[in-house]
Parts: sequence; C-alpha cells; structure tokens
Amino acid sequence: MSRRGDWLTDFRVRNTASIRLRVNGEEHALTVPSQRTLLEALRYDLGLTGSKQGCDKGDCGACTVLARPRGAPGRGEAILACITLAQDAQDLEVVTIEGLAGPGGLDPIQRAFADCGALQCGFCQPGMMLSARALLDKNPTPTLPQIQDALSGNLCRCTGYTKIYEAVQVAAGLRVPTHRAPVPSERAGPSDSKAHAVKEIVP
Ligand code: FES
Ligand code: FES
Repeated sequence: MSRRGDWLTDFRVRNTASIRLRVNGEEHALTVPSQRTLLEALRYDLGLTGSKQGCDKGDCGACTVLARPRGAPGRGEAILACITLAQDAQDLEVVTIEGLAGPGGLDPIQRAFADCGALQCGFCQPGMMLSARALLDKNPTPTLPQIQDALSGNLCRCTGYTKIYEAVQVAAGLRVPTHRAPVPSERAGPSDSKAHAVKEIVP
C-alpha cells in the first residue's frame, strides 16, 4: 500500500468511534466516523429513514426525534438529529417516527393528522408529529399559540399549517376534525367538448 494509503487508513481508524445507540427500545452497537450525526446513523446505519434529511443544519425540523436520558420515564424532548453527534446520543433513549405507534396501533397524533388531512407530500410530517407529541406529553391541553410555538421549528412547504394545528387540537381532544362535504364534480360545459381547430402558424 502506498504511503498515502497508509495515511488514509490511519486517519480513518483514528476518526472512527464504536458507539451504542438505544432507539425505539432496541440497543444497537455501531462503528461510525467520529463526525457521524445522529440523523445519519439513524438513516444510513440503522435504516430508519422516517427521520428526514432536509436542511441538515438545524433550520427545518424534518429530522426531529424524541430523546430522554436512559432510564428516564416518558418519551422525552424533541431534538434535532442533524445537529446532534451520534456519539453524544449514547446516553439517550431515542424515539423516531417508526417507534411512535404503540401495540394498540397509531399514536393519537398520527391518527389525527390522517383524519384532518394534515399532510400533503409528507416530508415534514415525522418531525411535525414528534414535536406535537412532545408538546402534548408535557401539556395535554395546549392553546393555539402554544401549539404554534411548539411547532415553530418545523417547516412545511405544502399545507399552510392550518390543518396541522387542527390535527394537534384534535389529538388533544380539544375539537373534532372539520367536516367538509365532498364537492360534486361538474359536468363539462358544451364549449369544453368542442374540438378546437389547430391554427396554422405562418412565419
Ligand atoms: S434536517 Fe433540517 S433541522 Fe435537521
Ligand atoms: S406536507 Fe409537504 S412539507 Fe409539509
């Protein structure tokens, strides 16, 4: 092996860490680059791709997971996995969106998001739901401003937020989903059914 190869191998060995992560109640032993983020470890080492990689710099909330000290009760606080080193998460118990549903089925927050149609492309939803879960675990009957504040770090490019806030209120039992009657489809007018002659474009 060339000297450059030796140097690279030494560098990689020096910059690799053996770590343990506890995710969704399961213990994992991993060997990862020292700079591996928790988000990268979840997605690329453990295959838990529900946590999304959006901005990768702490701005969008797509990577939100719940974390608490090992052995502590509850599900924990919302943290950003993209700006947390995997090494630093070893003392934590992490819950990702894959671990949110319980033996009885979907978590109420997941059910409410579905019932309210509070999702479109879905990219923001895992982080949005986990931030909402953290809020309701701490404050089961939040006001609308408290919901807005708790979700202020989670950006959504699709929904306009109204349905998301409604879903959190529904999950908290503060309201029922807004009922919207299906809109009847309209028959095409006569002019719509006429073929239009293609005009020739003369240069
Ligand atoms: S990916 Fe955007 S905050 Fe983490
Ligand atoms: S549903 Fe598309 S970003 Fe929120």
